[in-house]
Amino acid sequence: MKFGHFSDSAREYVITTPRTPLPWINYLGSEAFFSLVSHTAGGYSFYRDAKLRRITRYRYNNVPADSNGRYYYIKDGDTVWNPGWQPTQTELDSYECRHGLGYSIITGKKNSLTAKLELFVPVGDNCEIDRLVLTNESDAPKSFTVFSYLEFCLWNAVDDSTNFQRNFSTGEVEVEGSTIYHKTEYRERRNHYALFTVNTPIDGFDTSRDAFLGAWRSNANPEVVENGRCTNSVAHGWAPVGVHQVNVTLQPGESRSLIFVLGYIENPEDEKWAAPGVINKTRAQAMAARYATDAQVDAALAKLHDHWNTLLSTYSVKSSDEKLDRMVNTWNQYQCMVTFNMSRSASYYESGTGRGMGFRDSCQDLLGFVHLIPARARERILDIAATQFPDGSAYHQYQPLTKKGNMDIGSGFNDDPLWLIAAVYAYLGETGDYSILDEPVDFDNDHSLAQPLLEHLRRSFGYLRTHKGPHGLPLIGRADWNDCLNLNCFSKEPGESFQTTGPSEGPVAESVFIAGMYVKYGNQFAEILDSTGHTDEAAAVRAEVAEMEHTVLTAGWDGSWFRRAYDAFGHVIGGEECEEGKIFIEPQGMCVMAGIGVDTGEAVTALQSVKDKLDTKYGIVLLQPAYTKYHLELGEISSYPPGYKENAGIFCHNNPWVSCAETVVGHGDRAFEIYKKTCPAYIEDISEIHRTEPYVYSQMVAGRDAATFGEAKNSWLTGTAAWTFVDVSQYILGIQPTLAGLKIDPCIPHEMDGFTLRRVWRGATYEIVVENPDHLEKGVKAMTVDGKPVSGNILSPVPAGSTVQVKVVMG
Ligand code: GLC
Ligand code: GLC
Repeated sequence: MKFGHFSDSAREYVITTPRTPLPWINYLGSEAFFSLVSHTAGGYSFYRDAKLRRITRYRYNNVPADSNGRYYYIKDGDTVWNPGWQPTQTELDSYECRHGLGYSIITGKKNSLTAKLELFVPVGDNCEIDRLVLTNESDAPKSFTVFSYLEFCLWNAVDDSTNFQRNFSTGEVEVEGSTIYHKTEYRERRNHYALFTVNTPIDGFDTSRDAFLGAWRSNANPEVVENGRCTNSVAHGWAPVGVHQVNVTLQPGESRSLIFVLGYIENPEDEKWAAPGVINKTRAQAMAARYATDAQVDAALAKLHDHWNTLLSTYSVKSSDEKLDRMVNTWNQYQCMVTFNMSRSASYYESGTGRGMGFRDSCQDLLGFVHLIPARARERILDIAATQFPDGSAYHQYQPLTKKGNMDIGSGFNDDPLWLIAAVYAYLGETGDYSILDEPVDFDNDHSLAQPLLEHLRRSFGYLRTHKGPHGLPLIGRADWNDCLNLNCFSKEPGESFQTTGPSEGPVAESVFIAGMYVKYGNQFAEILDSTGHTDEAAAVRAEVAEMEHTVLTAGWDGSWFRRAYDAFGHVIGGEECEEGKIFIEPQGMCVMAGIGVDTGEAVTALQSVKDKLDTKYGIVLLQPAYTKYHLELGEISSYPPGYKENAGIFCHNNPWVSCAETVVGHGDRAFEIYKKTCPAYIEDISEIHRTEPYVYSQMVAGRDAATFGEAKNSWLTGTAAWTFVDVSQYILGIQPTLAGLKIDPCIPHEMDGFTLRRVWRGATYEIVVENPDHLEKGVKAMTVDGKPVSGNILSPVPAGSTVQVKVVMG
């Protein structure tokens, strides 16, 4: 069952009923001012940091779901309604929400009045624009009243929802003309305030929530709206809100637009005040003036469309499969941008108050983003690397505002260092900008310890080289990619953090998954060393890698698949001898991607085992059999009920690893089958089962051991976005930026005749036609560049600005 449809020409998802299984959301903003907006206009805004600079208030896990938002009430006679249905839930005559790239348009119609609400954050500005266009579709004049409503957050989202003894007394506002200013704590240490304005004289306002809603009411039935009149309340403490009242009369067929602006303003210390107690509004007034007319808003929207069209023209495909095209060209890349911006901070499942930026998460997010804005990827790499410790290990997380490593969680996640190599390699392959390797970068944010970035990579690899366990496999530390495999934790206390309990290092527990990474990213490191003239060192790294490959094929091989790990007692995890958790997905994908066992047959055998033991109709589960009891020696993984999260859920992030791995052994049919199983566009039809948004990936889908098999959770902020894009763009369609050049190596389903693809790489445009006359799954027989045959399948860089025609024939 569907609750909407894709509009490919507009690059929108069109939701046709407000009664979706869950709030289906979109992100506005891509620089500093961000908003989350659901299909019923729920959500909130923040400036840079969702915890420390929360602009509007939201109630997570609220009943009913998804309250608050920016709500517009229309009182038309005795009927009160919202264009997005919420919060009054008044039945609409028609409803539609179009989520597009950086904007959403929600249109409701009731009693011949149409209200179209366009929401977006302009490129380069710190505000959200809500343009409400009202049209009288009846044949008689109509008079009605519009009320805006949003609740201000008192900046720190955690304090705002916990420290009521203080914050019920701090709220302050000013109202001048049509603008409401939220200035809590501006009198003391803050130099920022929020404004909420509308481009027309108003007929009233409210800034006290109590005055607006009335006692014992909710935003579903505000008293002021019912009465049709604001009280002009000025908030002192309690809950400051922004409400405008605008009375409207429309002739038959007439339209009127109201432009609301929710903005964030910072003033320099010596420009804070206009008069004692009166805030300096100069910047706010200038902001309001930038969006005072429809022409200005139209221009800002056009700029936003241009921004996205330019970004997404870097990689676009045309094939015979419209779902593939729509995911590759629009939604997958869009989600990559959002995950890059948000990391794991603010979604409808991440409250924006918890984790900072993850070292491993951000490095992987970058793999799906680097082609979009390489300069921002560069900056991100340098920020991340500066949190690395001198011994090559890393803070697991850092705070985006301070860019400092987060002490609470500390270090000891032994996959972290290798992801830095992955990120840097991806950046170099995309840009060829080797200067990044010479950039001096702090260790542990200490300038006196700064070393060139290349030295950071050396220490990343070196950390794993010098931290091996009894079998010669890398020590796992607190955990590897799987945060829930906590082999040195041994936690018995309820509520204790699995992430930080126990020693951060253990001398025995080892990870086969990290061994796979060591081989894959060790080889990339060797390539980087070769390209920078460090030939001897590259050879030494390759020798280390070869030794690890051998170790994986002995101590890490279980007979039909790769083992997962060894626990703190040296017992096998992920082997036939285990009662539960006999086989795990992660090492199968990573080790084969690394090329381990490809020549000797283990790779194909391992992938066949995945198919036989882990595959389901909704994707590949993380392990089997699921853990049914809590295993002290394994930690959090066995804490989840069977079928959920890391305990045998379909953890979407690692499904593309197996799809990539299948391309490594030439199985295009199977690689694509795996790709499709978790890909939103292909499962849109089962939205009532899947439940999360059908245009983006979720972190997890309940596995076959779960009662709710097929149900997704935790949409939007997941490494799945980046890895599926890497899978489809580099492994399946096969356009791989490498240090040697742009490699073309498709591995596609045999029935596909080919495809055409546009790739902007290092400033030049490659128009690539791939033909598959013999209906193969992999292999390039011939390639021409501008009509001339070339040998091999690697394109060399050409001058920026040029366009190159490439023809590739599979065979
Ligand atoms: C979450 C974490 C990520 C981890 C994964 C598997 O998505 O953000 O760092 O790798 O879970 O546990
Ligand atoms: C839990 C989750 C895992 C996530 C981690 C982050 O362990 O299961 O997915 O990565 O929390 O702290």
